[in-house]
Amino acid sequence: MARMRLDKLLSMLAVCPRSGVQALLRAGRVQVDGVAARNTGMAVDPEKSAVTLDGQALVWKAQRTVMLNKPRGVLTAARDPKQPTVMDLLPPLYRAMNCMPAGRLDKDTEGLLILTTDGQLAHRLISPRKEVGKLYEATVDGPLDEKDVSAFAAGLQIDDADGAFRARPAALRILSSAPEESTAQVRVAEGKYHQVRRMFAARGRTVTALRRLAIGSLRLDAALAPGEWRELTKEEERLLEEPAAQPDGTPAGE
Ligand code: URA
Repeated sequence: MARMRLDKLLSMLAVCPRSGVQALLRAGRVQVDGVAARNTGMAVDPEKSAVTLDGQALVWKAQRTVMLNKPRGVLTAARDPKQPTVMDLLPPLYRAMNCMPAGRLDKDTEGLLILTTDGQLAHRLISPRKEVGKLYEATVDGPLDEKDVSAFAAGLQIDDADGAFRARPAALRILSSAPEESTAQVRVAEGKYHQVRRMFAARGRTVTALRRLAIGSLRLDAALAPGEWRELTKEEERLLEEPAAQPDGTPAGE
């Protein structure tokens, strides 16, 4: 990566807005390669210069992968002229590094979304041929029973205004069932347009709330409220590299 101005680097690393950098430097809180930085326009190499704030290293990483608890009402898109997107929830560093959503959730779906600068990882998570299973929790507007479980397991025939296809076998686990409303977990091995909503629609049910809980073996961190995010740990990055799932998307070995 090319050298850049120190104030740009500090604002990209979300230390503070560019306008606040001068005050940090004046207070002697930023060091570059062991020497207190004085000049906001100083050229630094993000990958090679050792930049510290109050003695703490500001780490530059070549690749960054984030888990976001996507809230309802936000678009999965890099940018949109009118509506808020998932990129608006992250500091500017991530856009500058070309961090992109790996897959998409509908505007009204919440839950686990991975955003990454790593094109190979994104491809692996999205590619229909890799079959990375996705686990959702759905609330629907009527009862569910064992016939629904069998129909999901057999592979539903979808035929609606958005097209026709035979869904791959999916694992449906009913959590609660009542005449007015039911909840269930469903693990799918593919990610067609409105996949889960269309699968329930094929069984005569409307999804009223949908949340993604896991991608492959990687689970959404329960400590993240909707709209919150964090970078993946090394262990979580490894989970995303695990071998292909079983036909219904269950991670290998489960
Ligand atoms: N299936 C859907 O219908 N919507 C989503 O956002 C994800 C899966």
